[in-house]
Amino acid sequence: MNLLLIHGPNLNRFGERDAAQYGSVTFAQIESLVVDETKKLGHGVKKFQSNHEGALIDFLQAESKNAHGIIINPGALSHYSYALYDALVDTKLPVVEVHLSDIKSREAWRRISVTAPACIAQISGKKEAGYSEAVAVLHQHLSKQV
Ligand code: DQA
Repeated sequence: MNLLLIHGPNLNRFGERDAAQYGSVTFAQIESLVVDETKKLGHGVKKFQSNHEGALIDFLQAESKNAHGIIINPGALSHYSYALYDALVDTKLPVVEVHLSDIKSREAWRRISVTAPACIAQISGKKEAGYSEAVAVLHQHLSKQV
């Protein structure tokens, strides 16, 4: 199966951001971790990061036809992008949303994710381990569909 790994604005700077919230893992390390774990389970993965909402939506529209599931950390777009929510719903694919930090224990505006209702699961506050869990959740979900 083919998975999409999508990251939103500022996430390319993981490793240089507030370590108290995000830890010290770099963006490159997160991408390799997901690629390695998906490969071990026999899946392919296509990666994409953008600081631009429209570019993320263009990627979803172009690539979801050839994919079976999505792991996404939308960054701050999680908190206000109804356009990204719509694009995720339109893929009709199982989506898992990941956040390194625990968004539920941060500022009030960050506690809401408008994209999470498009997802089968949201994993937040587990740092990079959240991505491993996302791969496992998606793998289990897809295995049930076969
Ligand atoms: C984040 C949480 C968001 O609130 C924030 O805007 C980010 C990172 C996380 O992974 O914890 O950029 O998505």
